[in-house]
Amino acid sequence: MSEIHFDKEKGSQIKLFTPGPVYIPERILKEMAKPNDTHRSKPYAEMHQLVEEGLKKLLYTSNDCLISTSSATGLMEACVRNLVKKDEKALFFSIGAFGDRWYKIGVSNGKVSVKEGVEWGKPITPEFAQEALNKDKYAVVFIQSNETSTGVYNPINEVIPVIKDFGALVCVDATSSMAGIKVEVDKLGIDVCLASVQKCFTLPPGLALCSISKAAIEKTSQVKNRGFYFDFLDLVKRSEKHQTPTTPPIPQIRALAAQLDYILNHEGLEKRFERHERLGKRTRMWARDINFEMFPEKGYESNTVSTMKNSLNIDIGKMVSTLLSKGYRIVNGYGDLKNKTFRIGHMGEVTVKDLENMLKILTDIVSDLRLNQ
Ligand SMILES: Cc1ncc(COP(=O)(O)O)c(C=O)c1O
Repeated sequence: MSEIHFDKEKGSQIKLFTPGPVYIPERILKEMAKPNDTHRSKPYAEMHQLVEEGLKKLLYTSNDCLISTSSATGLMEACVRNLVKKDEKALFFSIGAFGDRWYKIGVSNGKVSVKEGVEWGKPITPEFAQEALNKDKYAVVFIQSNETSTGVYNPINEVIPVIKDFGALVCVDATSSMAGIKVEVDKLGIDVCLASVQKCFTLPPGLALCSISKAAIEKTSQVKNRGFYFDFLDLVKRSEKHQTPTTPPIPQIRALAAQLDYILNHEGLEKRFERHERLGKRTRMWARDINFEMFPEKGYESNTVSTMKNSLNIDIGKMVSTLLSKGYRIVNGYGDLKNKTFRIGHMGEVTVKDLENMLKILTDIVSDLRLNQ
């Protein structure tokens, strides 16, 4: 076992440029190591409340914000189970692997599920959404903001108003962009906006969050067989006491409270969003200079994860493993896109300087691979 992967004393020394989980700074690890009271105690409730208030600011919302003791997929399933009645239809917009996953969750829960997808690399446009919604009556619509498999950012600011015009509830999976790219929940009227914490929030995995509108809570009360663990009504009722229904990962909630304070009061929201914009731009400049074409259609590239086509036709596996031997991890393409694309994650606490250091090394690796082709 390599020392940079597994060090009994120091933990992994790999610098992660991945689309989650991401590299966790020392200050967050230290926060997680602090002792805690129980999840039914007053000090815990105060900590939980700080998280709820921080999330409202982050998401520009007055809606309730919930903490789920799961990863994001748990909340994706919660949306399906809580918001779609037996005699209603759900529409899943898909632009990649995670859109497909949400649709599969709909089907596996026995909901009448329809998928409207586009070729991978393309976004859902307002025109596409309008056409899809004209075909039938949908009670709930599901969409990703950032699709991590393709590196496409959907133009949700234009698409969601179209969906709302049809009177449907809207659930947004912002897993790989929340806390990195601005989403204004109230302005857009998003009913559920969800994410997990191992990406732009920069925490270890195991916790998910969402905002939930009054309309979504009201709808939940009309839906039968919502299940037990992810019942929105139960989660909302418990959040009134600043608690979760079951035992949460308390150290992570402590770290999340501290991280929200850092994001809102130290770095500042606008600065954080701008830093992610610069990270996205810098990666795209590097790709252009070295002749890797971007996979997403121009204008829809994500600022948290860049997916590049293998336009130099090099051995992507070798490129990734050589970089890993130098202490940095990037990732191959997702699923069918393996070896045809590769991905660089630039989210969380990554700085432009960190990114440039990694890209310098990657440039040399690509040159060597081309020479030896
Ligand atoms: C866009 C998107 N949605 C959902 C998920 C699933 O998240 P989790 O692994 O936290 O369940 C991911 C994970 O990478 C993702 O990128």
